[in-house]
Amino acid sequence: MEICVVGAGYVGLTTAAVLADRGHTVFCTDVDTDKIAKLRKGIIPIYEPGLTELIKDNQQRDTLFFDTDSKKHMAHCPVIMIAVGTPSAKDGSADMKYVKHVITAIAETIRSYKTIIMKSTVPPGTADWVEEELQQRGTRPDLFDIVSNPEFLREGTAIEDTVHPDRIVIGAKRSEAAMKVQEMYASLQTTFLLTNRLEAELIKYASNAFLATKISFINEIARICDAYSADIMEVSQGIGLDERIGSRFLQAGLGYGGSCFPKDVNALDYVASSKGVKLDLLHAVKKINRSQIDIYLNKITHALGEWTEKPRIAVWGATFKENTDDIRYSQAIALMKKLTHRGYAVYAYDPLATPELPSVIWCSSPYVAVEQADVLVVATAWHSFLEADWHKVKTLMRRPVIVDGRNALDKKNLELHGFAYMGVGRP
Ligand code: UGA
Repeated sequence: MEICVVGAGYVGLTTAAVLADRGHTVFCTDVDTDKIAKLRKGIIPIYEPGLTELIKDNQQRDTLFFDTDSKKHMAHCPVIMIAVGTPSAKDGSADMKYVKHVITAIAETIRSYKTIIMKSTVPPGTADWVEEELQQRGTRPDLFDIVSNPEFLREGTAIEDTVHPDRIVIGAKRSEAAMKVQEMYASLQTTFLLTNRLEAELIKYASNAFLATKISFINEIARICDAYSADIMEVSQGIGLDERIGSRFLQAGLGYGGSCFPKDVNALDYVASSKGVKLDLLHAVKKINRSQIDIYLNKITHALGEWTEKPRIAVWGATFKENTDDIRYSQAIALMKKLTHRGYAVYAYDPLATPELPSVIWCSSPYVAVEQADVLVVATAWHSFLEADWHKVKTLMRRPVIVDGRNALDKKNLELHGFAYMGVGRP
């Protein structure tokens, strides 16, 4: 199929590259001229394992093209996939301005039948709204179908998630349109859920809200573990073995961040309240996630005790999780801000990100960051942090205290090296 993917962000780029790799001809467009110029030269604007190779391979095979002229490709491709951002507006709702731009462009160019796939995460009712918008702009109803096809890939494992998805959800009004989208994914072995558009839109929000709930749940149980000096790692393993619960997303730590969970939980809350529904559980999920930073802050303050000389805190990790360069809504950064606000000197290191933060000093290596540190906080579970040279770290630090922001380090090994280890819910 000839497919026009509008939006070259994480979702658009990964989906375009995988679809091109699976035999389609894909034209990926974006309004950002600089980004497109770089992509044409094989320079990928984001860090995502395996993506650079996949894009370059398909550019060489002439199956993947990048362009700023979305209208040209919308006009000739029978399939248009909308993968633009829907960031949080100030009131928590999803900001639909980029989706609106795409709708306008489609209305201006449409001459032949199009299957329009909504890949962006959008509020329930969006597919109906897009349909009305197009018709109000004079587009004949028989010229298009709107299909809701939400994305479930994670940053850091985006290609693997796209090639081996747990399921593909297709929400359509007409079965012919659903079949067309299913045919597009024919090379992927997975379960296809064919449903209505509203349900597909809600499946996306509900999935992210449930995963965020799992994380806040385990973080709350970690607080009880702290109170009893019990080990959350054992508790988490024990409950995760129940197939009804499942072991994934039960890792206690600094809490969730990123461009999806905080935004989508807020957007679901917004649409629910617009319908007069109060989401008590999700309010609690958000509250727990916010306060998780303070739990760590208190542990650090407690470990420092009384001080005369300004304490020096080393922080490893700034991105919202490992294997990405994305710092949006990063809990690591939220913690750094609070640490500097408390008057501590913060020396930070991240393999990919060095965002400008008042009073944070960025170091050239994790080992430079820990020089003379009173506490080391591991805020992101990058593999290189988990496998650090702990002997070297211990000799460089002023006091051997480690705070594990992801409960990901080997506690026993660190204690053998003479560190005082603190996670959440770790005795
Ligand atoms: C999330 C979902 O997992 C994807 O299915 C979805 O497609 C995506 O949002 C989206 O809506 O686009 P992502 O934000 O890339 O993916 O990253 P996750 O791996 O879900 O991690 C989110 C946050 O939760 C990270 O800060 C991570 O450190 C934290 N987390 C995750 C925990 O604190 N504990 C866990 O057990 C798992």
